[in-house]
Formats: sequence, structure tokens, C-alpha cells
Amino acid sequence: MIPVLIDTDPGIDDALALLLAWGSRELSVEAITTVAGNVPVEVATTNVFRLLALRRPAPPPAVAAGASGPLARALVTSPRYHGEDGLADLPDWPEPARPSVLPDAVALIVDAARRLQRLLTLVALGPLTNLALALKADAGALPLVGRVVAMGGAVDVPGNVTPAAEFNFHVDPEAAHRVLAAGLALDLVPLDATRQAVLPRAGMRAALARAPGPLASRIQAFSERGFRIDHAGGAQGMMLHDPLALAAALDPTLVEWEPVRLAIGGDGETRRAAGEPNCRVARGVDTDRFLRLFLDRLCPAS
Ligand code: BDR
Ligand code: CA
Repeated sequence: MIPVLIDTDPGIDDALALLLAWGSRELSVEAITTVAGNVPVEVATTNVFRLLALRRPAPPPAVAAGASGPLARALVTSPRYHGEDGLADLPDWPEPARPSVLPDAVALIVDAARRLQRLLTLVALGPLTNLALALKADAGALPLVGRVVAMGGAVDVPGNVTPAAEFNFHVDPEAAHRVLAAGLALDLVPLDATRQAVLPRAGMRAALARAPGPLASRIQAFSERGFRIDHAGGAQGMMLHDPLALAAALDPTLVEWEPVRLAIGGDGETRRAAGEPNCRVARGVDTDRFLRLFLDRLCPAS
């Protein structure tokens, strides 16, 4: 089993990525750290506890709260896509149990990196603020990690926030710059790849119908908003940005990787630059195999 730490800002597709992780026997989800991005960090943390209460993974991961805003600019969130509460503004989420005091995400990331070293895969599904702060706190810790897989960037395709910038890198370009400059074993899963990971509504409905119950109903309910908005934008289904990054962490052969040197622009653009590669970028996706894996694991029959 691969021990993973997931840094996340749930978020509809972050939630689907967490469910995929909890349904994957190859992974041991050691810890989840939250970061401000799609929603403010307190809301992201509440959503992790909502999802834990819904899915009840065993053993439960450690949860830690992270940065409340980007390194050097004001937070931009994404309520239009994810809802004010990040999970589609459903009126009836049960109040989840949660500890009154949580560990600090940066300390948890540094500790996990030092303890597990090459064994650890770190999966980043939101702005890279916590990772940049972990580098600042202990520059030697993250370079010990076996793999860092991050969803972010738009290399040879248009962005989804500005004409050239993708949301996670647009929210905290300074953090993205520091992470790319740190000499990590970094695998980036940008929009170039995730726009190939489009889940048709009928596929999701059929998979959930095979495992009826409260988990399936809740996944259907919060996902519906993602389908609606992506359809309105012209897609043939919902784009599974964060689930693809999670899947690429558990099975790197689902995508083709290109070693690339990237520089980060002032708005979070990912530009090809001259020189030694500073990451690998996911390009071609085996979409059929990815969607099968995702739908098989999303919602186990109870
Ligand atoms: C990324 O932005 C967020 O809204 C999604 O959760 C994903 O991590 C896609 O650009
Ligand atoms: Ca996300």
C-alpha cells in the first residue's frame, strides 16, 4: 500500500477524489490537510469532516487545518462552481462530529515527510500554499518525499479562470513558484490532462444505481451541480480534475508524462521555459481506463 497525504480544498471534485482514495486498496490515506481555495479553509475543513462521516473510512486519517489564504495576495474562492459551502449548497448535510482543536497542517506535512520519506506520496488538490509553507518551515523535508502529485496549471491549453491561468495556480502563484523551484519529485496534472477526464452523467448514475443507499444519494446530489455547470460550459459531462490527479498518484500509467521546465506567470500561468525540467506534466490520458477505475471505486455497495 502507498501511504498518501492529501492536501485539499473541498470542493465537489476534491470530494470525489477523496472518495476515490478511500475506495482504493493500493492507498493508505494517512492524513488530510486543508487549504483555502474553492472555499475558506474553515469550510474546507468542515467538508472533510462531512465526507468522513458519510464514508467512514477505516482507519480514519489524521485531519489538520492549513493556510487561510495565499502567501502574498487576497484569497479568491469559487462559489459559482462549487457553491458557497463548497459541496453544492445542499440544505441537509448532517452536522459532522469534529475535534475542537486540530493539528497544524504545515507541521503535519513536515512530520509525515520526515517520517515516511520516499514511501510517502503527497497529493495536492488545491492551491499549493501549505506545501510552500512546509518548504519554508523545513526546506529539507519535502525533497525526501517519493512523489508529489499536484492538480494545477494549464500548459498548452487555455486556463479556466483567466485566458491562460488555471484556478489552483491562479489563487496562489507565489506558492506554485516556490514548489516548482524546490527540486521535488513533482508530477503535475494540469487542465491539459483533466479536460480529457470527462465523466458522462449517465455513467455516474449507472454506477451509483448499482450501490443504492445514503452514500450514493449524497454523491449524486452534490455532483449534480458539477454536471450542470460543466454541461452549460459545453462539456459532455463533469470534468474530474482532482480525481484524475488522485488516480495518477495510485497508477501513474493512466497518463503519459512529459518532463518539462515550467515558469509561473504573475496570474498563475504555467509557461514552458528553457532549461532542466522541474516537473513531469501529465498529457495523454487513458480516459476509458480512468473512468472505469473511478466508477468502480467511488461508491462501494454496502
Ligand atoms: C481545480 O480548481 C478547483 O476548483 C478544483 O477543485 C480543481 O482542484 C481545477 O482547476
Ligand atoms: Ca481542488
